[in-house]
Amino acid sequence: MAITIKSEREIELMTQAGRILEIVHEEMEKALKPGMTTLDIDAIGEEVIRSYGCEPSFLNYNGYPASICVSVNEEVVHGIPSRNRIIQEGDIVSLDAGLIYKGYHSDAARTHAVGEISEEAKKLIEVTRQSFFEGIKYAKEGNYLFEISGAIGRYAAGFGYGVVRELCGHGIGTHLHEDPEIPNFPMMRRGPKLKAGMTLAIEPMITLGTEKVRWLDDDWTVVTRDGKLSAHYENTVLITKGEPILLTLGGKIK
Ligand code: MF3
Ligand code: CO
Repeated sequence: MAITIKSEREIELMTQAGRILEIVHEEMEKALKPGMTTLDIDAIGEEVIRSYGCEPSFLNYNGYPASICVSVNEEVVHGIPSRNRIIQEGDIVSLDAGLIYKGYHSDAARTHAVGEISEEAKKLIEVTRQSFFEGIKYAKEGNYLFEISGAIGRYAAGFGYGVVRELCGHGIGTHLHEDPEIPNFPMMRRGPKLKAGMTLAIEPMITLGTEKVRWLDDDWTVVTRDGKLSAHYENTVLITKGEPILLTLGGKIK
């Protein structure tokens, strides 16, 4: 499938979708406390999504059974919310949420600290976030997609971290996953040329140890093979002729 270029009207809808998703993340972050279950977080996320007249895009996507992905510690992504999983002080929790507003998708993820966490966990979260910002320095019409990929991967690898290769970012619009696929590591090719109006979900997943992951028996939860911590950071990004617009982060570079 070709990479879609969004019209002014579509960009307006995706802007609104992104604003709402930001609020969803703010509410989940405020609620996140030791003693809660990962299913409690899912319920809060879903409720906020629906309160804005939106649909949770992950729910039933390829059979995914919840609205939010809640991935704790060594869980990289796609942690299925459970009433048996209690969030504890010292955990790091990656929250990934997506919604549909008037037919348009938005997708974003954040990793949060629960109470006091180790220095190495703090640094992992911060470097993962910063790797996204290193990547989007290249997110501009006329550049090539894999310049973003290379910048993300090189930055994180520079700290000795694992850069997950088995999962990628993606185009986004009327579908949650559109072309192109967006790796988080350097590629031998330059990839597609970026054009204004492309909307991309860029989402580095970075680990404290190995880059290798495996899938749990639930067929969703992705964990690090060595059991070490993993962090995730994602925004839906609009490519323009100038600076990119972060649709799920205040509409600008922060
Ligand atoms: N942000 C993730 C992604 O882009 C979330 C998808 S979870 C799923 O792949 F359940 F919807 F698959
Ligand atoms: Co995504």
